[in-house]
This record gives sequence, structure tokens and C-alpha cells, in this order.
Amino acid sequence: MSRPAVDFYDPRTYTAGVPHDAFAVLRRECPVYRQEERAILGWPAGPGYWAVTRYHDVVHVNRNPNLFSSQLGATQIRDPKPEDLAFQRRMMLNLDPPDHSRLRRIVSKAFTPRRIERLAGFLRDRARALVDAVAPVGACDFSLDLAADLPLLALAEVLGVPAGDRRLLFEWGNRVIGFQDPEYARRDESGRPVDPRSRAALADMFDYAHRLAERRRRDPGDDVITGLLLAEVDGQTLSREEYENFFFLLTVAGNETLRNVLPSGMLALLEHPGEHRRLLEDPSLLGTAIEEMLRFSGPVMCFRRTAAADIELAGVDIAAGDKVVVYYASANRDGAVFPDPDRFDIGRTPNEHLAFGAGPHFCLGAHLARLQMRVFFEEVLWRLPDLELAGPVQRLQSNFQAGVKHMPVRFSTKGGIA
Ligand code: HEM
Repeated sequence: MSRPAVDFYDPRTYTAGVPHDAFAVLRRECPVYRQEERAILGWPAGPGYWAVTRYHDVVHVNRNPNLFSSQLGATQIRDPKPEDLAFQRRMMLNLDPPDHSRLRRIVSKAFTPRRIERLAGFLRDRARALVDAVAPVGACDFSLDLAADLPLLALAEVLGVPAGDRRLLFEWGNRVIGFQDPEYARRDESGRPVDPRSRAALADMFDYAHRLAERRRRDPGDDVITGLLLAEVDGQTLSREEYENFFFLLTVAGNETLRNVLPSGMLALLEHPGEHRRLLEDPSLLGTAIEEMLRFSGPVMCFRRTAAADIELAGVDIAAGDKVVVYYASANRDGAVFPDPDRFDIGRTPNEHLAFGAGPHFCLGAHLARLQMRVFFEEVLWRLPDLELAGPVQRLQSNFQAGVKHMPVRFSTKGGIA
């Protein structure tokens, strides 16, 4: 295969959108592709990795954590500093069974569908208020004015964080997910980018998490934090560090993903006006439309694993210790599974996309994510039916999350009355 013109590692690649054409070439010609990691944006060079691009290979990797580990080198492309690895392994995301299974059982006790379902009314009120605020103006930044606040409000409610503190959640999320983007990246005194994945870089967040836990111990509520503090499996509860890391995981995973999928889902509709109109005329398609938004423009492009043994995958020899990166964004466009994969079809069924991953780490928040998307689009689409782009969108510079940072839109003001 000739060398692709695209560097899949370079975060700047994604400011022009996910390079779907280049992924299609990989799926066809070199489905497990060797990507080098050059020194970039102040970060040192890395050893390179195997990019896994076909649907069935991605599922195979995710379902075999004994061969493709989340624990050996954690789950982000860039290797953690050796001194930070132990810290990162306190997080469920960066563990393999059986340690992962134990933690997942504990936190699942707090993160129950009943607790999530009860949020529906709260979310609807908040989504309606967000539309109320922009409707009389006739224009807004969809990403900031409509999409950013709902996930924060939802998360604050789920965690029992006072609503006034939700800017803190926003700031921590930006620090972690936006670290490759000049709008959010932090630099040290010598101008080098700060790695957000260490205990020191997140000390303020952990202090906050402990203060919140103290408050919940004194004054228990019906929130996930109270549930976490009480949850017990086989006589074991969460350790202090496990609690800290779960707070961290929820704060980032529960906010950044949604804040990005709401504008990118809307953008998919705006770029396919026939499908937009079809949905406005038939609201019963909203459920399948949401699944198609997740498949077509899901926010999580990839996750990393580390080979635990010498393995062959799609005819390629992978050595123990090699980095393996599963590209959900590519798997979701695999024509072997999705007929006419580049077509945005809001009625697509079946639609077994991998936007939430697969295997033991399947997204714990999938139910909450779908609920928020449903409520949000129910409020926005029919009240602002003539919403259209009013300028170029600005995407996040990241090789991990496909984000839409700014999306100027306009609409007529008659949707102002709910
Ligand atoms: C559209 C929104 C979302 C998307 C696309 C998404 C995507 C994902 C993906 C792909 C994974 C798998 C990670 C892997 O392969 O290693 C994951 C895991 C996870 N997600 Fe989500 N997520 C979303 C929303 C949420 C929300 C709202 C929450 C919670 C508030 C959440 C919490 C988690 C947690 C805790 C895990 C780790 C599960 C584990 O390690 O067992 N996510 N998510």
C-alpha cells in the first residue's frame, strides 16, 4: 500500500474533520496499519502503534482483554510517564478483568438505570430553558450556548455537585480532553505542554471530590456519590484512590463526549437537509436518528490497548508490548457491516455501531447519553426548525475526541414560545 497522506496521530489532522476517506483506504488495503508517532506540538516522539480500522477486528480486540490489555499501558495513545501509570491504573477504564469487573460491579450499584431515568424531567426543563434563552435572539454558537451546558447540568445532578460549581466540571474536562488544543492546553514555565493525566495536574479536582464526599457522608442524598460511598460488593467498598479516579472518569467521560456529540449530530442533520426535513416531518424517527448520529459522527474516535502477547491480527504480526489503537470512528463506517456506510440515514436499522465501544469497557453512561440526546433534540429541533449554519465550524484539535468547539447558527425568532 502507498503511504497515506494523512497522519492519524497528529491532532491537527482532525481540525478538518475525521479523515474518513483515508480510513476507507486503510480498511481496504491495510486494515492494521503501522502509524508512527513523531514529536509533535511540544510532545516527544513515541514508539508508534498499530491502528485497527475494521469493525470485526475492533470488536475482537475489545472482547479479548487478556490479549489486548487496557491495564498494561492504560488507554490513551501517548504513553503515560512511568511514574503516572500506577495512578492511572486506579481508574476502571485502565484495568482488565478481574480487577475491572470488581470495580465495575461496585460503581454499577450507584449508577443505576432508575437513578438515570429519574433525570428525564429535570433535563427537559433545563433543555427548554437553554432554547428559551437563545430563541428570541435568532442566532447563537450552538456548541457553547446550547450544547455545553446540558451535559454539565446533568453531570452536576448525577453527582450531587451544586449547579453553581458546574463551571469547574467544564474547566477540568477542557484540561483533560483539550490538552492538545491551543485554546485549552496548559503550559509550564518553560513553555512545555502540561500532561493532565497525573495526580499533580488534577490536585484541585481531587480536593473537590473529597470535599464533596465529606458533604455526602454528613448529608446523604439520592445521588451517585452517596451511592458510591455506600456501595459494597463482597464486603468491599471503593478505596480512596478508586473513588478519586471514578470521580475523574465521570467528570470527563460524562461531559466532553456529550458536549461534542450534540453539535456534531446537529451538523450531520444540517449537512443532509433531506434527512433533517424527514425527521422534522416524522418525529418517531428520533430514536434511530440518534443512533445514526452516534455512528456517523460519534465523539470518541479511538481508544488504546497494549498487546499482552505476540499475536497475529488480520495477517499482521503484533509483538507483546506493542500499542494497539482501535478506531471506532473507522469501524462505524465499515461497509462489511453497514450498507452504504457514508450515507447518513436517520432510519438506519439495524445499527450496531461501536460509538460506545464493545466488551467489558462498554460505556457505563450509554443510557444517560442517549437520554440526554433525546431530550435535547426534542427541545431544539422542533422549536428551531429553520436553524442553519451561519459560519464555519471550528473543530477540536485532538486525536482522541472529535469535537466541535464553535458552531455559529441562525434561526427565525418565532420559535421563542415553548
Ligand atoms: C455520547 C456520549 C458518550 C460516548 C460516545 C461514550 C463513549 C465511550 C466509549 C467508547 C467507552 C469505552 C472505552 C474503551 O473502549 O476503553 C466509554 C467508557 C465509559 N464511559 Fe462513556 N461515552 C459517552 C457518555 C458517557 C457518559 C454520559 C458517562 C457517565 C456520566 C460515561 C461514562 C463512561 C465510563 C465510566 C466508562 C468506562 C467504563 C469501563 O471502563 O468499564 N460515558 N464511553
